[in-house]
Amino acid sequence: MTHAAGAPWWANAIFYQVYPRSFADSNGDGVGDLDGVSAHLDHLSQLGIDAIWLNPVMVSPMADHGYDVADPRDVDPLFGGLVALDRLIAEAHARDIRITMDLVPNHTSSAHAWFQAALATAPGSAARQRYIFRDGLGPDGEIPPNNWVSVFGGPAWTRITEPDGTPGQWYLHLFDAEQPDINWDNPEAFEDLEKTLRFWLDRGVDGFRIDVAHGMAKPPGLPDMANPDIEMLTLDDDDPRFNHDGVHAIHRGIRSVLDDYPHAVTIGEIWVFENEDFAKYLRPDELHMGFNFRLVRAEFDATDIREAIENALAAASLADASPTWTLSNHDVEREVTRYGDGATGLARARAMAMVMLALPGAMFLYNGEELGLPNVDLPDEVLQDPVWERSGHTERGRDGCRVPMPWTGDAPPFGFSSNPDTWLPMPAAWASLTVERQLADPDSTLAFFRTILQLRRRRFHFTDYDVEWLQLRDDAVAFLSGGVLCVLNTGSTALPLPPGEFLTASAPLVGGELAPDSAAWIATD
Ligand code: NOJ
Repeated sequence: MTHAAGAPWWANAIFYQVYPRSFADSNGDGVGDLDGVSAHLDHLSQLGIDAIWLNPVMVSPMADHGYDVADPRDVDPLFGGLVALDRLIAEAHARDIRITMDLVPNHTSSAHAWFQAALATAPGSAARQRYIFRDGLGPDGEIPPNNWVSVFGGPAWTRITEPDGTPGQWYLHLFDAEQPDINWDNPEAFEDLEKTLRFWLDRGVDGFRIDVAHGMAKPPGLPDMANPDIEMLTLDDDDPRFNHDGVHAIHRGIRSVLDDYPHAVTIGEIWVFENEDFAKYLRPDELHMGFNFRLVRAEFDATDIREAIENALAAASLADASPTWTLSNHDVEREVTRYGDGATGLARARAMAMVMLALPGAMFLYNGEELGLPNVDLPDEVLQDPVWERSGHTERGRDGCRVPMPWTGDAPPFGFSSNPDTWLPMPAAWASLTVERQLADPDSTLAFFRTILQLRRRRFHFTDYDVEWLQLRDDAVAFLSGGVLCVLNTGSTALPLPPGEFLTASAPLVGGELAPDSAAWIATD
């Protein structure tokens, strides 16, 4: 398929994920906010991005840092309220940067008025029908209705006390107990979501990243899981908790609303790894794009990386959709650490950024990736991710990839906030990683990202969503895409480069050859 002419803005766009708590704090409470994002838009323009994806900023008790929404049509005061969002939209649009938001349709916060009403009324009430309440098993209903586990650990069911004070029904929560799952068989679920979609789109938002887009619909009878010992934060394709066929009708409903706003995009979070199943979400009347997480899962290994790319391209092409690429986000260990940490991890992360940015499709960068931030080993007492508690302190959770951004200065909080008490502590060693320090160094990771993002814009001419593979060596990945050859060396010896106009490399060449753990771009037209 070609998409050069008349392609929507998102087809090859660079999205930059802002984790709002961690980007920049404008009011000195130690937590990032939307005015903080507005204040740093120059950083993003100079980087050369097309759109921001904001993690949830709706009203929330923040049990899962915003993925527990108590009012889906308002911005939490912690982030500056609706006025701060309006300011950000206006200032971003003035710089040609689009704003996309997270939408959380699978569950609400337990503080949502709907859930509070469900707790206050008797079993079977209309309010209970908005969630998934069931009687327990066993003589006194003391056993959960099925064996489902929460993605964050422990049972996916919590028992309530009925309004009359007796031990009561159980409600389903695929995540934290503060995140009850909505009953999507109830038409009120979609009616309310439609109001939410229109509310933000009418305010000028350019689209949504849809949380747990493979969740929402649950199989009739809620059959047991075959594998309840599944590792936390991972999913099987045959897991009854996710990817039930009924989910597609929900996406068709969402698309029918989005079609009234043709400038706006939907990108689903789809943890589904069967290509045929993944592609179903991208049919012409469903989502515009789906996050493909294969590159996140790939080891720094030539075969693994090539397979991940081939599969992601194949999955998108089954639906004639734009492929999507990401190396990290707020849920996974940062890639510098995943690839080995230290100098090796950073070299590989830079090389992989070049591999990713050479691919056709939409890119998702995660704040701090452009600085080469590693994951942070945080002490127990500061951990906030619900995974830490729910796993009985066996899993540390995702806080290590959410530490605030270092902007300026020589000591924490590095210009992130005026308050030294940031919501997660920042390592003193990040003094060498600040935006300020990296701007002054032409060899910095930030300078490198600016260069490769600019080269992607100027030198790649994508006409289709395909790449042509070259076989150079078993420990190399090489492909032609958009008129540029990308070569990655995952081996331990230097690799001779094919002929062509050398554009750049992620590390200095060694005697004219590509060093281990690095990548290069060579123009061929
Ligand atoms: C996926 C989000 O990316 C993650 O951060 C969140 O905890 C879960 N969905 C639950 O909403």
